[in-house]
Amino acid sequence: MNQAALHQLISSKSKEKNPETPLNLRLATNLSLIQQSFFSIYSEEKHLDAFQKLLDLFPKLFALRPEALKQQDLKRLEEGNWYLSEKMVGMQLYVEHFNEDLKGLQEKIPYLKKLGINFLHLMPITPRPKGENDGGYAVNSYYQVDKKYGTKKDLLELAAALRKQDMFLMLDFVVNHTSNEFPWAKKAAQGNKKYQGYYYTFEDETIPKEFEKSLPEVFPETSPGNFTHIPEMDRWVMTVFNDYQWDLNYTNPEVFMEMLTNLVKLTNMGIDLVRFDALAFLWKKIGTDSQNLPEAHNLITLFRMCLQVIAPGTIFLAEAIVAPTEIIKYFGEDQKEGNECEVAYNASLMALLWNSIATKKTNLLYRSLTNIPAKPKDCTWINYIRCHDDIGLGYDDRFIEAMGWNPQQHRKFLLDYYCQRLDWSPARGLLFMHNPKTGDGRITGSAASLLGLEKGLDKKDDALIQEALSKIIMLHGIILSFGGIPMIYAGDEIGTLNDYSFLKDDSKREDSRWVNRPQQDWEIIAEVEKKGLPQSKIFLALQKLIALRKENPVFADGNSFALCYTGNDHILAFERTDNLKNGLLVICNFDENPQVVEASWILKLGYFAKGEPKDLVSDEKVFLKSGLLELMPYQILWLKKS
Ligand code: GLC
Repeated sequence: MNQAALHQLISSKSKEKNPETPLNLRLATNLSLIQQSFFSIYSEEKHLDAFQKLLDLFPKLFALRPEALKQQDLKRLEEGNWYLSEKMVGMQLYVEHFNEDLKGLQEKIPYLKKLGINFLHLMPITPRPKGENDGGYAVNSYYQVDKKYGTKKDLLELAAALRKQDMFLMLDFVVNHTSNEFPWAKKAAQGNKKYQGYYYTFEDETIPKEFEKSLPEVFPETSPGNFTHIPEMDRWVMTVFNDYQWDLNYTNPEVFMEMLTNLVKLTNMGIDLVRFDALAFLWKKIGTDSQNLPEAHNLITLFRMCLQVIAPGTIFLAEAIVAPTEIIKYFGEDQKEGNECEVAYNASLMALLWNSIATKKTNLLYRSLTNIPAKPKDCTWINYIRCHDDIGLGYDDRFIEAMGWNPQQHRKFLLDYYCQRLDWSPARGLLFMHNPKTGDGRITGSAASLLGLEKGLDKKDDALIQEALSKIIMLHGIILSFGGIPMIYAGDEIGTLNDYSFLKDDSKREDSRWVNRPQQDWEIIAEVEKKGLPQSKIFLALQKLIALRKENPVFADGNSFALCYTGNDHILAFERTDNLKNGLLVICNFDENPQVVEASWILKLGYFAKGEPKDLVSDEKVFLKSGLLELMPYQILWLKKS
């Protein structure tokens, strides 16, 4: 039982009307874990005062929480794990690329509802430096709204409008770093010692050089190294991402408390999910790669346990794009199980799906998924195909080798396949952060362009277009049924192609991730009901799949995922079940040719017990021929058992 479950239990027993009671009860419930996590990071001898200060902070922060949200918190506590529901279908979008600003976005709620979206992730809308700012991930404030998006009032209105429609809102909390224009950074640069202690600053290069021995580079092309010299203060500051993003120094408990306050102020604007950006990097230690360290996990638990006391209706998403066995740890392990982040990006599935498209095989996917430990109850994935970032090839070398492939050669093949170095490949991606010395690199590009739609349309090749559409629909069909919250990247619902306009913008040219951050095409959307257009085919298919998901509770994440072994390397099959013996069998073909699977295992699972089952996707009955099930190229089947 995790802490959230305890709160649910206690809240159902207490009908106390004193508004302070929930806070005190929740604090009492979490106190031992808060204390433990706090003193595991900050030694008790040195930081007793800081702990006292933290305890004093709770009533102050609770007093800041608006009444409507306090009520919502209580309601959510009673309901339990609202985020596991089949009704959750997300969209990630850039406000300015979607419909100009926050008001514009609010006007488009009917469109989102028409598609079936009930959960929005808005890319950063906080103030940021002019010029380069990593798409807003260099923050000048944690809870103000940048003028170009509108005002704080607009955000509050949007949040209220979404709440009214039972929709959910997620914003980023860029917890690892601030911009160099953040008030603390400015004061530090001016020589203020207190604020220099809020970052990792050093008077000379001795310690930075020690760190560099084992620190990898996140953006080796545009921001090599992990430290930046700031002439104004004549000190070196740690900048793991870009040189204008200063890493916060969490060895200082003041930083934790200030950031907790920022987090509460952010959530008080009506935020349901907080995306904990780059949280794997929160703790740094010489001699390590300073990622996924145990202290980082303790710190996240500390944030989680504190916010749960103040705002229990808000949950955390882990943005940890790290090795599969490390991602799962952000749900919390041992005593912390279920007490870190409730949701994590399923980056492993995403990267494996792209591998399967290029190789037309699912063997690496099977091998990798089998080796990921089961996630805790109460925790779930965000399943996605594309997002605003690149696709990293973070597969486990051991598994690539087990396929009989050379890991380096295999990664080279994937880069060649997706980044236009093979004439026969349908993909039109771009290379990101390519290192010619090591051959390492990542991939950018929109889903539709990576899956061949751009090339198909250019060459007026109907077969290629059709194949791309099938792939787009199949991949979305997988993320909608895998278990967890599907997150559609805005534009993918209408097959938006690469946007090359970033090449003309000096502040973006060096960062090819902008190729997959396009403007929403409302002209195409106006035509979406016209059945013949490729964009309409995608939209209508996704709209239908989303509606099916929402109608069938078996799609909720009850932690019931099981891979099915078909004996055919081109096929991915998995089953989801619930306690009522309902089942959903998903079968997909990653090959360009029709494929068959021997079907006795499907019969055994009971999918033909009441005659031929209907495939929900095509709305057609599924027949076996000589005990074999045939799938067309890139077909996905959703078979239901009830
Ligand atoms: C996350 C964001 C990415 C950003 C980085 C630094 O990984 O997704 O876009 O560059 O954090 O904040």
